[in-house]
Amino acid sequence: MEERIIPKHIAIIMDGNGRWAKKRGLPRTAGHKQGAENIRKIAIACNDLGVKALTCYAFSTENWKRPESEVDYLCKLPRLFFNSYLAELKKNNIRVTFLGEIERFPKETQKVITTVVSETKNNTGLNLCFAINYGGRREILLAAKQYAKDVMNGENTLDIDEEEFGQYMMTKDMPEIDLMIRTSGEVRISNFLLWQLAYSELIFSPVAWPDFSKEYLLEAIDEFTHRNRRFGGL
Ligand code: IPE
Ligand code: IPE
Ligand code: MG
Repeated sequence: MEERIIPKHIAIIMDGNGRWAKKRGLPRTAGHKQGAENIRKIAIACNDLGVKALTCYAFSTENWKRPESEVDYLCKLPRLFFNSYLAELKKNNIRVTFLGEIERFPKETQKVITTVVSETKNNTGLNLCFAINYGGRREILLAAKQYAKDVMNGENTLDIDEEEFGQYMMTKDMPEIDLMIRTSGEVRISNFLLWQLAYSELIFSPVAWPDFSKEYLLEAIDEFTHRNRRFGGL
């Protein structure tokens, strides 16, 4: 078999936790717990493969609409996740970062996030990035507002290109997304990385996120390897 092309940056819409749990007669939160455990596995697999960045959609700006008990659990999940796995992530030289407006989360959660980011900031392996309270449209709006302010203050001009505008996005320090995977059979973007996905390869897997194992990841990378990326050229 020809050699795998390892994407530099993979983004995942980790969907299907609730349905995974329902199928087993468990509460939806049990699906989120199992889903979190799976992030750890997939992050370590990506790190071993030499992927540079893995961005995981964990909570959208629309997910606040869910019942309060589920939102409460999802707000607590970062703390539970890093209590269990931070040591292992560190041992694997993984750097953790976040996208989204974390100010809306409880103080406790924000504290965990700040600690984790600072404790892993010098790691040189995979950048494991969590998108929480993140929405693509919101990100573009915030970027446009900041750009407008900079122009008004004379700190920027109207004469910028796409790359320079990209510096206003939350992903400014990250490589382009080569591959976006959505699990659980839904074929939509759901407000994820609207700007960044312009030329990403998209793969939609029927497997629920908690069951999306390293084998499925490798299958997706194999499919990516066979895609012919043209970027509008020939
Ligand atoms: C994805 O799983 C995780 C989050 C959106 C937080 P869901 O909770 O959307 O699971 P389904 O889609 O209802 O099965
Ligand atoms: C997208 O999944 C958001 C995350 C995985 C965090 P949703 O389950 O919220 O998306 P929709 O509602 O099916 O579009
Ligand atoms: Mg869903």
